[in-house]
Amino acid sequence: MRTPIMAGNWKMNKTIVEALDFAKAVKGPLASVKGVEKVICSSFVALAPLADAFKGTDFKLGSQDIYWEEQGAFTGEVSPLMLKEVCQMAIIGHSERRQYFGETDETVNKKIKAALAHGLTPIVCVGESLEQNQAGETEQFVGKQVRAALDGITAGQMADIVIAYEPIWAIGTGLAATADDANRIIGQVVRAAISELYGGTVAGQTRILYGGSVNTKNVEELMQQPDVDGGLVGGASLKPDDYITLAKVAAGVKGSA
Ligand code: PGA
Repeated sequence: MRTPIMAGNWKMNKTIVEALDFAKAVKGPLASVKGVEKVICSSFVALAPLADAFKGTDFKLGSQDIYWEEQGAFTGEVSPLMLKEVCQMAIIGHSERRQYFGETDETVNKKIKAALAHGLTPIVCVGESLEQNQAGETEQFVGKQVRAALDGITAGQMADIVIAYEPIWAIGTGLAATADDANRIIGQVVRAAISELYGGTVAGQTRILYGGSVNTKNVEELMQQPDVDGGLVGGASLKPDDYITLAKVAAGVKGSA
């Protein structure tokens, strides 16, 4: 059984004060909602205050990036050693980081290994561009991204890795992939690649999320797909009421785990 995950990716949004308001608003309504892992990926600066605010709850926190060195002369970077004091997970290789900040398959791979070495669960993002999608290259490109990200990762380490399939053309556009397509790429490309690398048992245990314009209207159909193990949600995760709905739907549809 794969416990579903509803992860909010706040991107560069919310001050500390706003983050704390959010925590206050969602804590109560989601306290009794079990069977879903509730994850908030805030800015680096909001992580420590949020860790305090969510103390004693089953919420998990994640960073939106990580550096692969533990410490040293790397001005501006944040290391896994620092992050593990305030969060449990780390988004790695989000398409915005690949697009605007020079993230490559190689740096993604290094960051995954650094996260694992410090007990942080990577949420590894893969996904094709509109051009690749229209050129019919989705399967090949996403499969390649998965294999590159996991280069040198052992079968044992796969238990601590989450993958998020996020087609770039669906991110922030209001144009989510159809539930069928999300399920097909996740099952027949991402999970299939993991199966090729590590075998069916590991592939069957790996949690793979869908991301890209998930909202309160489409979440139910997406969560009903057998290969979709939850969501990585940007815009809709910023609103407490929407996040509460998203987490409840994931728990309701999948939550017997
Ligand atoms: P979105 O973002 O839900 O706003 O489309 C998803 C993401 O980038 O993780």
